[in-house]
Amino acid sequence: MNLILSIESSCDDSSIAVTDIDTLKVIRHLKISQESEHKSYGGVVPELASRLHAVTLPNLLEKLKPYFSNIKVVAVTTHPGLSVSLHEGVIMAKAISSFLGVPIIGVNHLKGHIYSAFIEKEPILPILALLVSGGHTQVVEIKSYKSMKILATTIDDSVGEAYDKVAKMLNLGYPGGPIIEKLASKGDENRFDFPVPLQNSKLVAFSLSGLKNAVRLQIENLAESITKQDKCDIAASFQKAVLAHLLQKSKKIFKTNSIKDFVIVGGVSANRYINSGFAKLCRDFNKNMHKVELKYTSDNAVMIARVAIEAYKNQEFSSYKELKVTPSKKLDAGDILV
Ligand code: KG4
Ligand code: ZN
Repeated sequence: MNLILSIESSCDDSSIAVTDIDTLKVIRHLKISQESEHKSYGGVVPELASRLHAVTLPNLLEKLKPYFSNIKVVAVTTHPGLSVSLHEGVIMAKAISSFLGVPIIGVNHLKGHIYSAFIEKEPILPILALLVSGGHTQVVEIKSYKSMKILATTIDDSVGEAYDKVAKMLNLGYPGGPIIEKLASKGDENRFDFPVPLQNSKLVAFSLSGLKNAVRLQIENLAESITKQDKCDIAASFQKAVLAHLLQKSKKIFKTNSIKDFVIVGGVSANRYINSGFAKLCRDFNKNMHKVELKYTSDNAVMIARVAIEAYKNQEFSSYKELKVTPSKKLDAGDILV
């Protein structure tokens, strides 16, 4: 058996996986989320995340020992993410690679999210992806694992970040996405008229900070008298504006881009309301909408292995010297993911 061992520790999830390189089957996938540890802070605390990875990753690795003799390559997320968290994964990956005498491959986390659409299957290419996560909001055109071009990006916050911040303003906990989605299902989305970002702008880009501020002003306006129903209505009205914004800008891209396949990836792609809006848009534009399995929408090591398998097939490895945590850089439309 030819197996790949992959590690993901870019934020607050410690995840390790073993995947069969030839059949693409996931053999083991272990993940420990640190959500409960960060909850009281309303967001991820980098120093705490890194300390928890240092404890959790070796414990998870211990469970994968039976597969060690069949591991042919190690893959690890190198960027973007919290540098102190990424370092924990990279140090461990280098140690295992050296101990087993196998090559190592560094993987871009965003490419991982995109290839989460191809876990246990062959890539469907070319494809357009809307990447919506806690750190990113982009439309990407993918021709291969090496050719991924950003068509649109956010000029300020990401969608996931906006969900998390709105949840924090409403004292609902972290991560905010699933909580807001649940509340929104019980709310009136037409009660508050939050502005759809960049609605009258020709810019093919995303922006969430103005909407977030509009929500903040509404919450401040209701102040102490805010009720449970008010919170549900705010969540629903916020979500309505987010979807309208994502659809309006994606529509502009769909009008000029002939790629027939489309997928939403990243943590926010777990959201059913956003998914159903895009399912309709894809029907209108005659595009095939693909789905990421729910358990792979959030950060995981399986998606990192999925990209690395493509690099492995082309014998593209990283040297220990090259393989280092690279600082996150601002991504602009036209950039190619590296
Ligand atoms: O991809 P991910 O696990 O981590 C990053 O790479 O950032 O995404 C996490 C983000 C968080 O902001 C979380 O609130 C959001 O995904 N999220 C959701 C939902 N589930 C997770 N946002 C909206 N609706 C959801 N159901
Ligand atoms: Zn992610």
